[in-house]
Amino acid sequence: MNGEDNYLLVKNGHIIDPANKFDHPGDILIHNNKIIWIAPINHRNAIPKRISVFDAQGFIVCPGFIDLHCHLRDPGFEEKETLQSGSLAAARGGFTTICAMPNTYPPLDTPELIEYVLRKSTELNLIRVLPIGCVTKQRSGKELVDMDALAEAGVIGFSDDGDPVSDPELMRNALENSKELELPIIQHCQDIPLSQGAVLHKGWVAERLGLIGMPSEAEEKMAARDIHLASQTGGVLHLAHISTEGTLRLTKEAKSLGIKVTAEVTPHHLSLTEEWALTKIENSLYDTRAKVNPPLRTPKDVSALIAGLREGTIDAIATDHAPHRAEDKNCTMEEAAFGISGLETTLGLLMRIVKRGELDLPTLIERLSTGPAKVLPESWKKLGSLAQGNVADIAIIDPNYQWVVRPEDMLTKGKNTPLVGSTLVGKVQATISNGNIVYQDNASYNRLALEEN
Ligand code: DOR
Repeated sequence: MNGEDNYLLVKNGHIIDPANKFDHPGDILIHNNKIIWIAPINHRNAIPKRISVFDAQGFIVCPGFIDLHCHLRDPGFEEKETLQSGSLAAARGGFTTICAMPNTYPPLDTPELIEYVLRKSTELNLIRVLPIGCVTKQRSGKELVDMDALAEAGVIGFSDDGDPVSDPELMRNALENSKELELPIIQHCQDIPLSQGAVLHKGWVAERLGLIGMPSEAEEKMAARDIHLASQTGGVLHLAHISTEGTLRLTKEAKSLGIKVTAEVTPHHLSLTEEWALTKIENSLYDTRAKVNPPLRTPKDVSALIAGLREGTIDAIATDHAPHRAEDKNCTMEEAAFGISGLETTLGLLMRIVKRGELDLPTLIERLSTGPAKVLPESWKKLGSLAQGNVADIAIIDPNYQWVVRPEDMLTKGKNTPLVGSTLVGKVQATISNGNIVYQDNASYNRLALEEN
């Protein structure tokens, strides 16, 4: 800020702030990095002399989105993504806080590596990146990391995501520690023997293509085991990317019993089904961009997950943004990497559910902001709210803007989404992080002006 006072007024928007039950037209004034007032339009507050003004007429103004689960590939796989390209993609998607999974190289299993992510992302000064530490050293599933040391370094939870923590005793010990640390174990629920060699959901599409399928039970068996371990230990369990009706049922039951379990769902598991793998692209029999772990499931699973999100069994939407190089997907389905690039298409994809009337917009915003904030440790729980005095993390969205997903417009290095070429309705127009505009869409460039009063 160079010691100067900066003011930014976001005016004329429709503010939806689920944390404070605010759903009205209004203006927000930001001073340096803080929200100093939020008020209905026409409320007569003194406007500073020199001020930047963003005209949000016709737009929704809401808390910046929080992503509990993304893969930024930095360090080690920078050709797939870096902290910078991932943060820029996140900002384009309306995210102001993202949690980085530790399946990097080396994996994030020491305080030094956690400090690297925190330092580099702070230097970038784009959005907030919160690291997740490994559960086991080297993600090898054999020996627990020094969880106290990683907690001290600033992780928001622990996960071997990409792989499950298969060993029940290790998982039990990790959950024991999670209770003391008040940080979740974020489990990628997959029973390995039940999913050996599987590339798609075990259903008619895998069968037609002659490929090995991953049964729903592979996820549900692990979720059931870990819910049981959480109930025995009193540990904090977060279920990553749940994808089946059965896992939803287990989560609901666990919550009703007071077990400390939370769950997230991805935009793709809320919208796409196994059939997406059948789309033929470029002389190929199928679309490897629809290969993701857990796999895209059935319409019945999708409906159940939407209902679970609506009623609150599922706490948060998390992207599982998994960028890959073109060559990681330009190969056979068996050889292709698992993963969908998701940060930039989240809102547009989920607005389809809102437009169909299956989810209301305030609930969608809640599950993208306040919901994930509740899963974060105490020090971050105030995120996801537009309360006066809070850090100004804001997404400004046009719920009716129609656009086509084009690889050349994407800011992530990973263009691997089966949505390329799809038309989406609903787009982020600007993202404000820590009081700074970190993304502005071309369609609304004329909305920002410097005013002298
Ligand atoms: O599809 C996936 N891709 N699922 C995971 O769990 C890991 C991720 C990745 O790192 O590419």
